[in-house]
Amino acid sequence: MKKRALTGIKPTGNLHIGNFVGAIQPMLKLATDPNFTTNIFIADYHALNLAEGRANIRQNSYAIAASYLALGLNPEGCTFYRQSDVPETFELTTFLTSFTPKGLMNRAHAYKAVTQANREQGVEDEDIGVNMGLYIYPILMAADIVLFDADVVPVGKDQKQHIEFARDIAGSVNSVYGQVLKLPEAMISEETMELPGIDGRKMSKSYGNVLPIFAPKAELEKICMRVKTDSRTPDEPKDPNDSILYKLYVGMADEAQAKRFHDRFVPGGMGYGQAKKELAELLDTIFGPAREKYNALMASPETIDKHLDVGAAKARALAQATLKRIREAAGFRV
Ligand code: TRP
Repeated sequence: MKKRALTGIKPTGNLHIGNFVGAIQPMLKLATDPNFTTNIFIADYHALNLAEGRANIRQNSYAIAASYLALGLNPEGCTFYRQSDVPETFELTTFLTSFTPKGLMNRAHAYKAVTQANREQGVEDEDIGVNMGLYIYPILMAADIVLFDADVVPVGKDQKQHIEFARDIAGSVNSVYGQVLKLPEAMISEETMELPGIDGRKMSKSYGNVLPIFAPKAELEKICMRVKTDSRTPDEPKDPNDSILYKLYVGMADEAQAKRFHDRFVPGGMGYGQAKKELAELLDTIFGPAREKYNALMASPETIDKHLDVGAAKARALAQATLKRIREAAGFRV
């Protein structure tokens, strides 16, 4: 029997190459793995509890969908949908609230981060930005997962607690009704690659140090020129462990490209200017074709909707079966 893998992606604006190697590539691989049936969805409701997420849900959701499709996700090989197109999610969320100890939510990282930030600013813990959506976010996430009887949930380390909560919550439902819900397991890959940003810190939108996947070529070239380097001359040997430029190039290149770069860069011979130019060329070769597809999709949101509608129909059929099981167990009419 195939296992079901499920993962959600929050619709936050433009993706960067750090997202690509860390999350998108592994997800694309999973979606074609014959051992798994895969659900991949845009977690648009998860964006609602923050002011900045709320402002751009529609456009950001299209952007995420177009990104994955352009980068090679085959919507027929998996179930690819928008969370908000599967309203069964919200009935299940309501159901699960009654099986979730309030104290569990008090311990949730996302909520605690906001209360902590408030305290540091000298206001009461819950004065700014703490709405109930934020507070029960882990319940919504548990619903996303158990609605589809997911076996495994591939996520980053930061999401581990949420998967544990989902297990706890599903477990307390089962302790009342028997085995109605499947307990999911987190699938956390230790060896996912992390790329540095152009300033050497972790690549992150909040640091403003990213290389966007779908930026126009000229913009990508400009950003590559800003990758931080030291003052070594072209002829001086360079330490690969100490070079952001090297890490970026080799992180993205195939073996042969990496070797060609290494052999000119490390012993000395190639200067930083040339290396930056080559990084921009490499990124353009990798992402150029996907960028065209992305732009075409973004110009045709109805095409994106068509793909997502197919996914939502598949997802809802599964979701309704689970919900029926739950409603029956709990004594509601089905
Ligand atoms: N909370 C996840 C994040 O911030 C996104 C997400 C929502 C998710 N629902 C999910 C991930 C269900 C895995 C399974 O990235």
